[in-house]
Amino acid sequence: MCGIVGAIAERNVVEILLEGLRRLEYRGYDSAGVALLSNNGDYSQVRRTGKVNELANAIDAKNGMGNVGIAHTRWATHGGVTENNAHPHVSKDRISVVHNGIIENYQALREELKAQGYSIDTDTDTETIAHTVHSLLATSGSLLAAVQNAVKKFHGAYGTVVMDREDPSRLIVARSGSPLVIGLGIGENFIASDQMALLPVTRRFIYLEEGDVAEITRREVKIYDAYGQPVERGVVESNINHDAGDKGGYRHYMLKEIYEQPTVVRNGLQGRINDSGLVSGIFGEGADELLAKVKHVQIIACGTSYHAGMTARYWLEQYANVSCNVEIASEFRYRKSVVHPNSLLLTISQSGETADTLAALRLAKELGYMASLTVCNVESSSLVRESDMAFMTKAGAEIGVASTKAFTTQLTAFLLLTIALGEKNGMSAADKEMILSGLHSLPSKIEETLTLAKSIEVLAEEFSDKNHSLFLGRGEQYPIAMEGALKLKEISYIHAEAYASGELKHGPLALIDEKMPVIVVAPNNELLEKLKSNVEEVRARGGIMYVFADKNANFKSDETMRVINVPNCNEAIAPIVYTLPLQLLSYYVALIKGTDVDQPRNLAKSVTVE
Ligand code: M6R
Repeated sequence: MCGIVGAIAERNVVEILLEGLRRLEYRGYDSAGVALLSNNGDYSQVRRTGKVNELANAIDAKNGMGNVGIAHTRWATHGGVTENNAHPHVSKDRISVVHNGIIENYQALREELKAQGYSIDTDTDTETIAHTVHSLLATSGSLLAAVQNAVKKFHGAYGTVVMDREDPSRLIVARSGSPLVIGLGIGENFIASDQMALLPVTRRFIYLEEGDVAEITRREVKIYDAYGQPVERGVVESNINHDAGDKGGYRHYMLKEIYEQPTVVRNGLQGRINDSGLVSGIFGEGADELLAKVKHVQIIACGTSYHAGMTARYWLEQYANVSCNVEIASEFRYRKSVVHPNSLLLTISQSGETADTLAALRLAKELGYMASLTVCNVESSSLVRESDMAFMTKAGAEIGVASTKAFTTQLTAFLLLTIALGEKNGMSAADKEMILSGLHSLPSKIEETLTLAKSIEVLAEEFSDKNHSLFLGRGEQYPIAMEGALKLKEISYIHAEAYASGELKHGPLALIDEKMPVIVVAPNNELLEKLKSNVEEVRARGGIMYVFADKNANFKSDETMRVINVPNCNEAIAPIVYTLPLQLLSYYVALIKGTDVDQPRNLAKSVTVE
């Protein structure tokens, strides 16, 4: 989604802004722009469609100087991908604005502004922010007051930075629904939509809260809450590695992140389990008492995180004896639902900023859930701050749009949660021991499974000319099949559907022919014989299958079936282990097809708009 960077300093800020934009590139965007203002009042603005490098190449000595500036990468929501629609947007050659989010009432605002004599020059909703602030400047007495008054008129979501060409001494920022973080320097300050953008210049951050408006000068940051009252927001020292955004010698972030999985899963387990069980207090202060009362879990998430939630449901019901529903956030938030007694609302998110998941959490608070827990990868995120309890997955920065290590660390977290809830709800000692021993072996099983990469790379050749594919799994491997299909479609653009294989005969069998590869996830579990019958149904109709199977499952390669043997592992961790070959398969297929693996078309890393 869109990215924002702003800076106010004594030095020229252009490189800080461009580097910030580069560090946000992974989030997905289609155009970029920068506006610079010098202490002597000189102003320049450059916008380009395409990559940040296109923008950087268009900046020279004449237009590349400013002591204060705002910059933006745009992911089009209102209006096509054109230079004219790229941010910053300007009102009356004075007020420049960058914005993330959507101003939902922009049509009504446009009419109001036109009646006041403003000409509407772009197709964007953002332009209305610039004109509204400009129109209120004369009567408000200051830029800060103009922005405070302007935001009262906006419906929807915004993270915005406003610059006044007549005043190079301040930037005004406002946040509602879209994250903004202020970076503190010495004699200089910064602003961004994601702290990642500012890591080269500072480690000290202030996270704005909903409704906050702030005035940022070189030496001071003054924050006002939604009621206009001055407020203090804490300063957080970031411990994120400055190099978290490097590819570390890998060709793509996605591949790097796939290979980081043994390490990040190990980190996620460190200090959380011991030989006899869970270390107490791992879900946070007071969490053990709350979790002891849980009788039902409602999981809310989107995309890959939703697939993690679907897997968790199998575990929670099978091992922990706790009933569980799972729902896509964008559905949950717009329908009437019933809250079960002693119900825990569990959100899952890599970014912690997914607009639908956040909205669902806020709705759930009104609905009367007993408590909320988020399983999340970003400590400073809105979901973590707004949930009663947070469990950090510790996957480290995930840059590739296709989620990989975030997913396997989420699943690891759910095995821990299964034990935590199971212990209070009659989980058998054998099941607890099985999950625990699976977790202890997990990092090395992941390492072992990644050695399949070469044979999967060879297999991927067979997919390069395919347009459609089917993924099959049963039980807790069904969501893994769904995740495999999502990975393949998002980075290789091959249409991929996942089915619980028992469902094949109810329709999808009609699709089977030699042009439709069928990928089967087949660990050696109690559903294996059922799955084998489904495989025969496909074979009988001339389907070509690619089977990821336990050696003991006794699948043999032949002219209709390629078998890749996955290291033997216990039932609890099998969904995590079987995810890896599917990640590798989609990576190598995308590589062969030559798509943009890390930034697939039309997608964004963090979906902060509805
Ligand atoms: O940050 P979140 O986990 O909330 O994101 C949810 C989805 O947008 C995300 O998982 C998406 O489906 C990924 N691109 C999948 O690889």
